[in-house]
Amino acid sequence: MTAEIDIEALTENQARAELARLTLELQRHDDAYYLRDAPKISDAAYDALRQRNRKIEQRFPALRLDNSPENRVGTRPRDGFAQIKHRTPMLSLSNAFSRKDVEDFIDRIRRFLSLETGSALDIVAEPKIDGLSATVHYRDGRFIVGATRGDGAVGEDVTANLQTVVDLPKTLTDANPPSYIEIRGEVYMQKDDFMALNADREAQGLVAYANPRNSASGSLRQLDPAITAQRALRFFAYSWGVLADDGPVADIGETQWEFLDRLKAWSFSVNPHAHLCRSIDDIMALYDKIQAKRAALPYDIDGIVYKVNKLDWQKRLGMVTRAPRWATAHKFPAERVQTVLNQITIQVGRTGALTPVANLEPVTVGGVVVSRATLHNEDEIERKNIREGDAVIVQRAGDVIPQVVDVLTDRRPAESKPFRFPDTCPACGSHAVRPKGEVVRRCTGGLICPAQGVERLKHFVSRNAFDIEGFGTRHVVTFLEDGLVTKPGDIFRLRDHQSDLKTREGWGEQSVDNLLAVIEDRRTIPLHRFIYALGVRQVGEATAKLLARQYGSLQAWRSAMEQVAAERAMAKHAVKAEDVGEAYAELCSIDQVGLALADDLVAFFDEPHNLSVLDDLAEEVIVEDAEVVATRSPLAGRAIVFTGTLERMGRREAKARAEALGAKVAGSVSKKTYLVVAGAGAGSKTKKAEELGIKILTEDAWFDLIGD
Ligand code: IVH
Repeated sequence: MTAEIDIEALTENQARAELARLTLELQRHDDAYYLRDAPKISDAAYDALRQRNRKIEQRFPALRLDNSPENRVGTRPRDGFAQIKHRTPMLSLSNAFSRKDVEDFIDRIRRFLSLETGSALDIVAEPKIDGLSATVHYRDGRFIVGATRGDGAVGEDVTANLQTVVDLPKTLTDANPPSYIEIRGEVYMQKDDFMALNADREAQGLVAYANPRNSASGSLRQLDPAITAQRALRFFAYSWGVLADDGPVADIGETQWEFLDRLKAWSFSVNPHAHLCRSIDDIMALYDKIQAKRAALPYDIDGIVYKVNKLDWQKRLGMVTRAPRWATAHKFPAERVQTVLNQITIQVGRTGALTPVANLEPVTVGGVVVSRATLHNEDEIERKNIREGDAVIVQRAGDVIPQVVDVLTDRRPAESKPFRFPDTCPACGSHAVRPKGEVVRRCTGGLICPAQGVERLKHFVSRNAFDIEGFGTRHVVTFLEDGLVTKPGDIFRLRDHQSDLKTREGWGEQSVDNLLAVIEDRRTIPLHRFIYALGVRQVGEATAKLLARQYGSLQAWRSAMEQVAAERAMAKHAVKAEDVGEAYAELCSIDQVGLALADDLVAFFDEPHNLSVLDDLAEEVIVEDAEVVATRSPLAGRAIVFTGTLERMGRREAKARAEALGAKVAGSVSKKTYLVVAGAGAGSKTKKAEELGIKILTEDAWFDLIGD
């Protein structure tokens, strides 16, 4: 892109070129927004492009193109939808891909509920509809408000649009309806309606939708409900949200299966293929049967969802991160396609990991063009015997990165040679080493490696970290190159270079203003995002949340980590957390934090440069303390330890219950322990608790305490 020329100064030729460019660019953004539901620029930046196009057309009316953005309908809304906060989160589902995965799912449930092997565990199975989930609230049996899933916590208010969905009851057919109920399900478009809609769009010179899912999503999220009304959207109900407002709790029955009956009685459409399964064999038979019917079904499905039938068990099972323990989605196998692997290149990640990437002859897999696939690591290349020039089978499942699943060795060119994995970093030339017992080879260049620098910053601005939309790879690379941003804190000082940025080639005033506005907006950040953004090895989102919850504030976390590093330096070879020191043991007592992760934090805090980067950043931003979960609970923030055998529920369930009350469940007793729950046969941990003067409860006393 060239620098923007003042419209008054444009020559006719320049104007012609600009209009062509703007038309294409706006078309791309429209597609990203409407078809993929993934806008690449802010509304303001989009509007700026539109306006420029309009002004040029006004000055040169004769140059107006037939496919000018001004001639297109369905323009992007100026303002989006109002937001609706879901009172209970809209969850996603864990996945299963094989019978073994399904068996594991069932076993996990049995263990959690302490059920005997072989005892009855009924499962409701139903097709997984490939649409978009929506939630609809009814007061006194009347539809009052509806929303999309959004990010699971906050969705878009699409009430007016949902009103136009034919098989969504506006009034529940019930003489005595619940005083309040929220019903969830999937909005989808049938295949034939999708084809008809696309034929229509093409006839009008509009871009076709890529698949029924996108078209359902694009149709539901129209700002003008009159457009939605013309689209044949449908709704399958399968779940619920809140069951009461101020009044009585809605009765939805005692099982999932009964709930489906209530839904039907209320006039909801329920998927006709839902089935009550009593065994794994039942489940697999249904899976095979529906998979065989898949192509003939009038709507797209991408798997079968299994749900524990008994609702009180669902309640006890609860959820992990963002998915319920009581349900899973058994996906259909991914589509596989043959192509040629042209070249293997090496990508250097944020922590220096060298990842081989297959550069493919582009092919369409499951409706998407694929030209790159991950090869994971050097062992994988050897195990699968993959070489450059090979004919390969590529698969793509859902949103997962495409993979090379097979090599057709009989078609291998005679001159082909095994791939030699480099032992130096392709970006900085430093040694790339592979420690014994590890699969990953890493660049040792650390802070001098430009590839790692780029990836670290990309991670920093990414969606789940600082979420600086519009700060793309291009920005990261150029800013690093000219030294404007060498560490994260620099991003928040970019505003001091405002006028300098605006004179850069390819940068419009508007886009600089937009970027700086987003950056300002992100200056305040919750602690867990801040921790995640630092990009410490192995510290993903879930771990960052646990750390934030444990330490509460940036200061507390930072000083605890320094203490941890100091303790580790004094006890380099200790193999038990307690032997390293108190702070180290506290860190390891956090659920899922083991020695390896603790040592990655140590490595980070041992590097003085990292501390200076962290402190520099902390000067620029406001880090919000972590919210303490379940603040009114007497257990909030307390460390408790379970020991011995519990009779009334399994260890996993007990742990989940305690965590739901805000407690932190630790594996070992220390001075920080608040109380110990001792089941049958408890031994050394109770003894240690006695020595330290820590409260010890029997199992019954524990259940009394938590009000069970
Ligand atoms: S049950 C507790 N049943 O799949 C979560 N979900 O990948 C309730 N979906 O967000 C989900 N068909 O949008 C359920 N028969 C079905 C479904 C279904 C499609 C969607 C749903 C969910 C997503 C998870």
